[in-house]
Amino acid sequence: MGKKSSFLCQECGHRSVMWMGRCPGCGSWNTLVEELTTAKGRPAKALGDDMLPIKLSQVDLAQENRYVTGIGELDRVLGGGVVPGSLILVGGDPGIGKSTLLLQAASSLSSGGSVLYITGEESLKQVAMRAKRLGIKTENLFLASETDIETAIQQLTNLSPRVAVIDSIQTMMHPEISSAPGSVSQVRESTARLMNFAKNHGIAIFIVGHVTKEGAIAGPRVLEHMVDTVLYFEGDGHQSYRILRAVKNRFGSTNELGIFEMQGRGLKEIANPSALFLERHPLSSAPGSVVVPSLEGTRPLLVEIQALVCPNSFGVPRRMTTGVDHNRVALIMAVLEKRVGLKMGGHDAYVNVVGGVRLLEPAVDLAVALALASSYREKLVADDMVVIGEIGLTGEVRPVTGLERRLKEAQNLGFRKALVPQTGIGKMTLPKMNIFTVNTLYEAIDLALNVKGGAYRG
Ligand code: TYD
Ligand code: MG
Repeated sequence: MGKKSSFLCQECGHRSVMWMGRCPGCGSWNTLVEELTTAKGRPAKALGDDMLPIKLSQVDLAQENRYVTGIGELDRVLGGGVVPGSLILVGGDPGIGKSTLLLQAASSLSSGGSVLYITGEESLKQVAMRAKRLGIKTENLFLASETDIETAIQQLTNLSPRVAVIDSIQTMMHPEISSAPGSVSQVRESTARLMNFAKNHGIAIFIVGHVTKEGAIAGPRVLEHMVDTVLYFEGDGHQSYRILRAVKNRFGSTNELGIFEMQGRGLKEIANPSALFLERHPLSSAPGSVVVPSLEGTRPLLVEIQALVCPNSFGVPRRMTTGVDHNRVALIMAVLEKRVGLKMGGHDAYVNVVGGVRLLEPAVDLAVALALASSYREKLVADDMVVIGEIGLTGEVRPVTGLERRLKEAQNLGFRKALVPQTGIGKMTLPKMNIFTVNTLYEAIDLALNVKGGAYRG
């Protein structure tokens, strides 16, 4: 008793006893979200010893020890392993491999203590069959099939594992909330319970979150704010590579990528992926293809960007991108049009990053621009050349971080030419590399489309 639910407007905070389509407080539509409230006038609670504030210097830091999963790519993305008491959200499209990854992680973590895997999506038999397929044989991995969050917490309390997995948060529900599982209020309430439990008991909990069509984890943003770490598992459905990316991490860097391959017996780590996303070989190079030494996290990754620009005589020109931000490409095309004079207004344009990797850093701008220009002009960019640089609105090419590290990797993989920003270029020792520096996009295009090339042997 004492608990009941009410509805809270997410815009203005107006509270209502029943759900309404329109908030009476601020008039916005569809903003009321169900919440559990505790009865008013709760008697002041006496604080126990463990509830009093303590001095910063007295905080026990022993907790900072991490559980290493043994899956190197996962450990790196987490910032060196799992922090006890932390809540980790793993998001991704259905079928991408979240359950597989977490079952593999659960299995290796169980060598150091018990691990509880709670599934709300599959039967115990299905999970066991997957475990068999993955070759998992461990005594310390416990399974439960449960969708009631209170029962799930009870099971966690009873077993007291070192790590737990909740697969998925959208299937968990609190019986006192009337809305359906997967709704904002259910997802938020379940996550809050798990957060509380994780913090109080020092148990690390992974939660799986499905991604909506718009690409956000269902339960708008709220979930991301509540947890310590948000990892996204992504990849091109038609290829076997999977990329794990931290988008939020209270215990580590957010730029790290972990790269896996989905094989017949589960996910295998790719420890040295730098040339994975290159489709190029001497025979296949065509206009519209450019290689960029991207630096996502601490590891350089050579990735091929492809563009196709062709005239469109009917209707609105199409613009499609995969692997790079659509708006960023629109901006680059505007700069190409205005500062370089490439009239692409009446053309369809497609930009694709090979291999399903997503490039988020603006340092790849110049490569995207050159791929577009190369396709538009039907001229090749030398196939032993890499291109890196950010583009500004005035058409200037801006410096990037980690230039030498990027170029070293390119040199190791057989590239012999690099087109880089003039500004911020320091002393580099790259004996085999021929470096071209540019200040503007105009210069870059002029140079890249006229350099004869290629002795690239990948
Ligand atoms: P799954 O982990 O169930 O995805 P999610 O939990 O993100 O929905 O992975 C499902 C896909 O992975 C499915 O298409 C089968 C494939 N798969 C393999 O290719 N090899 C394997 O060893 C396993 C377990 C799954
Ligand atoms: Mg799953």
